[in-house]
Formats: sequence, structure tokens, C-alpha cells
Amino acid sequence: MRVLVTGAGGTLGTTLAPMLAEAGHEPVLQDVRALRTPYEFVRGDVRSPGEVVAAARGAEVIVHTAAIHGIHLADHSPRDFYDLNLTGTLNVWEAAVEVGARAVVFSSTMGVYKSHNAPGEGAALREDVPLRPGDVYGWTKVAGEELCKLYGRTHGIPSVALRFGMFVPEPFFRYGIRLLYGGVDTRDVARSVMASMEALTSGRILWGAFNVESVVPFTEEDGPQLRSDPLPVLDRYYPGASDLLRGRGVGTLAPITVYYPTDHAADVLGFRPERNFDRWLEELRGRPEERAEKSPPWP
Ligand SMILES: NC(=O)c1ccc[n+]([C@@H]2O[C@H](COP(=O)([O-])OP(=O)(O)OC[C@H]3O[C@@H](n4cnc5c(N)ncnc54)[C@H](O)[C@@H]3O)[C@@H](O)[C@H]2O)c1
Repeated sequence: MRVLVTGAGGTLGTTLAPMLAEAGHEPVLQDVRALRTPYEFVRGDVRSPGEVVAAARGAEVIVHTAAIHGIHLADHSPRDFYDLNLTGTLNVWEAAVEVGARAVVFSSTMGVYKSHNAPGEGAALREDVPLRPGDVYGWTKVAGEELCKLYGRTHGIPSVALRFGMFVPEPFFRYGIRLLYGGVDTRDVARSVMASMEALTSGRILWGAFNVESVVPFTEEDGPQLRSDPLPVLDRYYPGASDLLRGRGVGTLAPITVYYPTDHAADVLGFRPERNFDRWLEELRGRPEERAEKSPPWP
């Protein structure tokens, strides 16, 4: 299938494009800046309706990743977020209708839940909790999800919103500890897009919002202990974890106030992240030179 990826020069797009090609698809990459890529590239701005339509011609699926996100809150205004994230998503949907696309994959975020981590609330953030973004970024993604549902109802084009955890590139140690705090490996993020495309174009689903964070084994009963001192909880699920971490300079871990169950994506999309904390611990054992730069290592 011909698949348009907006914002394709970003972290997700650069991992996704070769995966699409390997699976026999024809990636068409769009970005506002010039990209050096072996794949078809159309330079364009998602804020421009005509440029999105031009890139989308012939595409059966649109994977919309172009956005500014959490790391941009410090140096971008709410209006910047509105203009790129919301207008861009509206333009993608209008283009999907105009070119007759079969499906849209929308990049959402765990930031749609942001203000849930108040004391006294459950630690598990499942897809059906009321959304309460804590900043304009999360709000643009809630609004983007609503646009997906609206265009699904009015034009019959199926879509998913993938509520990604953090996958901004980080050094090995921070990347690994972050897997306990809603982090996720970029390769798993790209795999979730592939699984969504399959579910949408085969007609299995018309709409769905899915957590895409690394798999953690925690339960609600772990909540109080995760908030006060996560290390003993880790030892229950990953025997020897705290000794290994202490040996690498981790005296303590920051409270884990929430986690993101991923069984909905497993049940509906058949997708489950593969690069989880257990796998990272194994890698850490084999890399004796790796040490935490600070304690706690994350955030
Ligand atoms: N990276 C994360 O940790 C994370 C977490 C949750 C959700 N997300 C979401 O996932 C998506 C992909 O994230 P990413 O980390 O790959 O992003 P990124 O910041 O690495 O890349 C974004 C790309 O969009 C391009 N872009 C910017 N403005 C554009 C415009 N006007 N028109 C076209 N392209 C434009 C940029 O040049 C860049 O190549 C985003 O929608 C983001 O909100 C990311």
C-alpha cells in the first residue's frame, strides 16, 4: 500500500519508513524540512491544506506524526501548538477525505491523561478513564482524537489514536529506567503503527484509542509501594533488579505514580511491546560499563 507519513523526518518516521518498505508498502514521506532518504519525499507543511493534499494523492493510509510535543512546551506558544497540531490534523483529515484514503493512524500521547497522577487516584491509566490533559500539548491531542472520531462518523474512514509513551532518544541508562515511567522503545512505537494499519485496512476496527507504553507487571495493589519506594516492587517482578541497579549507582528511584496497561492494544490490535524493562535489565547485565549518571536516574 502507498502510505503517507507526515513529519517523517522525526524519531518515529525514521524508524517507521524502513519497516513499511520491508513489509512491501510504498512509503511517501512528508516533512517541512528537507530529508535525505531513499524513499519518495514530498516537502510540505501540514499547516497548508494544499500541501497535505498534494502529498496524500494516491495514499491508502495516512500516518500522521507531524507535531510539536512535550519537549517543545518550553519554547513554543499555545498558538504554535494549536496551529501545527490541531490545524495540521484537520488538514490531514480533509486530505484523507479528498484523496479517498482508507485509514488514518493518529499519533496521540499519554499526555492526554496528564493530570491524573494526583494522590488518592488509581495508578492504572486505562484507555477509558476520562481524559484530563494538563497542558496545551495534551489538549491538542485530545482534540485530534475527537477529530478522528468525527471524521469516522461523518465520512466512514476508520482510524486509531495511539497514545504513545515517551520515546524521545535518551542515553541507555535513562532510556531503560524510563521504561518504568511510561517510556517505550521507538521500534515498538513503529510496530504499533504497523499493527494498526493492518487492523484498520482489514476492516477489523473502525475506531480505537490505545495505550502504547512499555509493558509493566504492576497491579493496583502495588500502587502505594510504587509511590513510596519502587525498588522492592521491582524485586518482586524482576528478581535481583535492585542489587543490579544499586551496583550501578542507583540509590533510589523516583515514585511511580501511574502506569499504562497495554492489554487493550494486545486484545484488539494484536500488538504487544517487545522491548520492555526485563529485556533492558538483561542488556544492562551484559554492559558492565553502564552506570547511572544521577540517582534517581529518571526523570
Ligand atoms: N517522541 C515522544 O516521546 C512522543 C511521545 C508521545 C507522542 N508523540 C507524538 O508522536 C508523533 C511523532 O513524534 P516524534 O518524536 O517522531 O516527533 P519529532 O519531533 O521527532 O518529529 C516531528 C517531525 O515533524 C516535522 N514537522 C514539524 N513541523 C512540521 C510541519 N509544519 N509540517 C510537516 N512536518 C513538520 C519536523 O521537521 C520533524 O521531522 C508526534 O505527533 C508526537 O506528538 C511523541
